Amino acid sequence: MDTVTAPAAHARTRTRPGAGARRRYLLCPPEHFAVEYAINPWMDPGLPVDRAVALRQWRGLAAVLRSLGHRVDLLAPEPGLPDMVFTANGATVVAGRVLVANFRHRQRAGESAAHRRWFAAARFRQVRTAAEVNEGEGDLLVAGRRILAASGFRTTTAAHREAQRVLGLPVVSLELTDPRYYHLDTALAVLDDTRVMYYPDAFAPAARRELRRLYPDAILATAPDAAAFGLNAVSDGRHVVLPADARGLAGQLRAAGFVPVPVQFAELRKAGGGPKCCVLELRSQ
Ligand code: ARG
Repeated sequence: MDTVTAPAAHARTRTRPGAGARRRYLLCPPEHFAVEYAINPWMDPGLPVDRAVALRQWRGLAAVLRSLGHRVDLLAPEPGLPDMVFTANGATVVAGRVLVANFRHRQRAGESAAHRRWFAAARFRQVRTAAEVNEGEGDLLVAGRRILAASGFRTTTAAHREAQRVLGLPVVSLELTDPRYYHLDTALAVLDDTRVMYYPDAFAPAARRELRRLYPDAILATAPDAAAFGLNAVSDGRHVVLPADARGLAGQLRAAGFVPVPVQFAELRKAGGGPKCCVLELRSQ
């Protein structure tokens, strides 16, 4: 049974300005979802995938985001692009400026054009496609007035410099070292403008030092919660939507004053994805 937390269970109360404010997200239904190739260690094309379950779990996520008062826009799914459900990888959007992804693997390259078309139709005026290998919000997380950016598996450090130029925010480069945590959003989540949670073992020593310096009070995830994709979470500054299996992390979030909102998401994990991978934030300012 899928649990979709009822709106009443995470009723909105605001603690600080901006926290829990209405956000705008781009999602894409997993109508053509499949695991047909392996570009990360979670993917096994030999294992069966139940698309109906994936769709149900994805609908649960969309319903939770709407119940929290957020706006959900939809990107039309395309056949032949089985990872298209992971919209976070398609772009990074800051103050209406869009930097469309340039995927590392040819299997996902077609998603860039789909995102470009969507942003044009939605009348975003400043849209450009990355020249460097860049996997969007999978690796570039906006944290207040800075961007935390990962290298190591997909996005390059040259892409970090390009993002800083195009998006106009300083970029902090962090190197990932564990292939299971190949995108930044599998190892770190931005909770609000000043707080993050992360799994230290996913990062190179220099990145760990930088994270400790920038976020001395960060929530640190355990290995089991990280493996449950607990860090692949969507936060609006108050509610944190995360996989239900990451129980310890939910408790840590509660203790820190956040409202954890668990969702069932096991089917999309077969592609190495969680709730945050399926959500691209459209920031107008
Ligand atoms: N199968 C996809 C890939 O390996 C999963 C992407 C997950 N997205 C994310 N933002 N972490 O590219």
